[in-house]
Amino acid sequence: MRVRGRWLGLAIPILGATSALAQEAPVSVVPWPADAQPREGDFTIDADTRIVVSDPSIEELRRLAATLTTPIREATGLPLELVAVTGPIPPNTILLALDAGADAAAGEPYERDESYYLLVDRDRVMLLANSAAGVFYGIQTLRQLLPPTGTSGVWSVPALEIRDAPRFRYRGMHLDVGRHFFPVSFIKRYIDLLAMYKLNTFHWHLTEDQGWRVEIEKYPRLTEVGSCRAETVVEKNFDPYVGDGTRYCGYYTKDDIRDVVAYAAERYVNVIPEIELPGHSLAALAAYPELACTDGPFEVGTRWGVFDDIYCPTERTFAFLEDVLSEVMNLFPGPYIHVGGDEAPKTRWEESPAAQEVIAREGLADEHELQSYFIRRIEAFLNANGRRLIGWDEILEGGLAPQATVMSWRGMIGGIEAAKEGHDVIMTPYSHLYFDYYQGDRRFEPLAIGGYTPLERVYEFEPVPAELSPEEASYIIGGQANVWTEYMKTAPHVEYMALPRMLALAEVVWSPADARSWDRFVARLPSQFERLESLGVNYRIPEVAGLGEDRVTTSDSDVVVLSHPVPSAEIRFTLDGSAPTRDSELYSNPFMIFFGPTAGAPDGVGEVTVSARAFMPGGRAGPTSRAHFSHAQLLAAEEVDERRLSSGLDYRYYEYGFQSARNLLVAAAVRPGVVQVLEGPGGQLVPDAIPPTRQGHASRIALAGSERDQDFGLVFEGYLKAPTDGVYTYYLTSDDGAVLVIGDRVVVDHDGLHGMTEKSGSIALEAGFHPVALGFFQAGGAVGLEVSVRTDRGTRGEVPSDWLYRTD
Ligand code: ACM
Repeated sequence: MRVRGRWLGLAIPILGATSALAQEAPVSVVPWPADAQPREGDFTIDADTRIVVSDPSIEELRRLAATLTTPIREATGLPLELVAVTGPIPPNTILLALDAGADAAAGEPYERDESYYLLVDRDRVMLLANSAAGVFYGIQTLRQLLPPTGTSGVWSVPALEIRDAPRFRYRGMHLDVGRHFFPVSFIKRYIDLLAMYKLNTFHWHLTEDQGWRVEIEKYPRLTEVGSCRAETVVEKNFDPYVGDGTRYCGYYTKDDIRDVVAYAAERYVNVIPEIELPGHSLAALAAYPELACTDGPFEVGTRWGVFDDIYCPTERTFAFLEDVLSEVMNLFPGPYIHVGGDEAPKTRWEESPAAQEVIAREGLADEHELQSYFIRRIEAFLNANGRRLIGWDEILEGGLAPQATVMSWRGMIGGIEAAKEGHDVIMTPYSHLYFDYYQGDRRFEPLAIGGYTPLERVYEFEPVPAELSPEEASYIIGGQANVWTEYMKTAPHVEYMALPRMLALAEVVWSPADARSWDRFVARLPSQFERLESLGVNYRIPEVAGLGEDRVTTSDSDVVVLSHPVPSAEIRFTLDGSAPTRDSELYSNPFMIFFGPTAGAPDGVGEVTVSARAFMPGGRAGPTSRAHFSHAQLLAAEEVDERRLSSGLDYRYYEYGFQSARNLLVAAAVRPGVVQVLEGPGGQLVPDAIPPTRQGHASRIALAGSERDQDFGLVFEGYLKAPTDGVYTYYLTSDDGAVLVIGDRVVVDHDGLHGMTEKSGSIALEAGFHPVALGFFQAGGAVGLEVSVRTDRGTRGEVPSDWLYRTD
């Protein structure tokens, strides 16, 4: 039992409580400009400040001027009149100037000049650009230099000089409205947020298995039937299936679409519609079963996943799709139409006489070439109508359509291949840019599809792969983040998942690569949060830092240092495992935990769980972060005769469909002690002992590279050398599950079916040799295993090969 008074109450300011990161940056623009130089002083807006446009006859300039002045006028009551000026610009003026010689491409998305020049000194603000888009982006910067809307007080801008232009011409955010439907009002708000961060593309994913969301006049059943599903799966209850019993409907009328497209255009955002084909088309098949390879009937999907029923490649289907795309092209004036192309199982085509006939007629090798044929036909149709096709990277299978732009989502590989073939590429890998992935500790986040993409990982993303030549790299036209909404039912939840990750994306695609700095980005966040707060955006408040992993110590005390990037946020914490509330203890300084003998459990091991949460001045709370602090006795090393040891671990490879690394270790009959640790609830899923397909020695704990793609297991076993007494933290990054056992302890339990995620655990080891076993299994899909270690507070790296031994 712990005795509270022993470790609580002693607040010792050990480290500076405010790090450099917490200091507010004077200029908090996101995305950071290509070049920004500070100047002396401020420009202050007052009752005499006038706004001047270079040519009042350009209506667009006057409209843009109003987007700047209206919110300021509403916040301050200052007149900010728009006046015409001939001759020199008078003081106390904000000038918006458009170069009169702007060229014809000025209005075309992805072709227009988006650069601007902004000079602020004590007397005036000058914003110059070659295009209205440039003026718009300069205004976004200027607005970020001013206080957030709704703030009263002095409205001033720090003097500076900015020369700015985007790094990439394509800067996108996607939204899936098929899985869940979002009203036009929210779509506009989403577009406002994109525009505020200088993103220029809204990729509107309009059709899905679970709902067709766009009115098509020629095929009314698409919305009559296809826009409604009978119900929705509850959480992840796929097997056994549990539905919510509630009919779910929604679609956009043509007027809605026109309204959104026009709204976006005023914010220099191009809208790209996605009409999915040949897969993810169950809602369309429910409406028009004759478009399928089998008779149906089909139902609009009620659960998530990839479905075998896809469009059949018949002439009837092509006629239908051309009709649909014709109406879509009339609604969306931009250069691109997205046609999906991802996740289209070939099952039905393999069994369909109609599909096989097309393969024979066109001399195609297989169903993959049939998919390629399908996409090429659609591309030819779009091209003939002056449009360009975008597809997910599966459109590479069976050969790329000649003009296609590839959206690389299954990593960067598809994008690299397409760029090498001279095709435009938009990078949107799930590893960094899937905003449906978790962004924090799953225990404290709303249910998500999986993965782990914290803000920093988005920020680290580099869209141009190092292996591309400069010529090939020029085909990487930009990046985009995707927001798939299986687990997002409401608009606030979409905002929570999209922001602030969208800000990191904006900086990745706008700012020069060498201007990017995580620390400086974090320093600029508080001001952005204040802005988002004033707009009522449900952005995710960062978790409290300092509780990233559980901590084990062999000394009598440990120190808890908490911090938060927002200086005005209050950190509240608890020590009893409960979620902190507004009434919990306020954190002000680092504090100590003492693990004295009287504080510990009967065996002398003390422990405490620290949970912390940030509360914003406006009242919203961030997610909880939590870590377990404990004192541990050193685990005694095992007496081994070193002469019997050789370097490297024993390695065994099993070809078997494991579902769990624990079961694998049990089945592989590793040391009885380990089996005892691992056996428990759940029982064994595999035979008592199965023979390995291969075995040998390994100097590293890693995949050999010769394993098959799925259904295998690996076991590493032997002795781990601890060079000194101390705490060792092991990290397992794996897809699927892995378990690490040292001595009689499960140090890292990262078992189960999952994507490439990391888990860590710590153990205090006496110097010497300790029995070790690691089990890893791969079921299907992507595969990976990485193991690293950190000693005490040292750096982290691969497990040194001279720590690994076996007995022969
Ligand atoms: C995708 O995530 N299926 C493009």
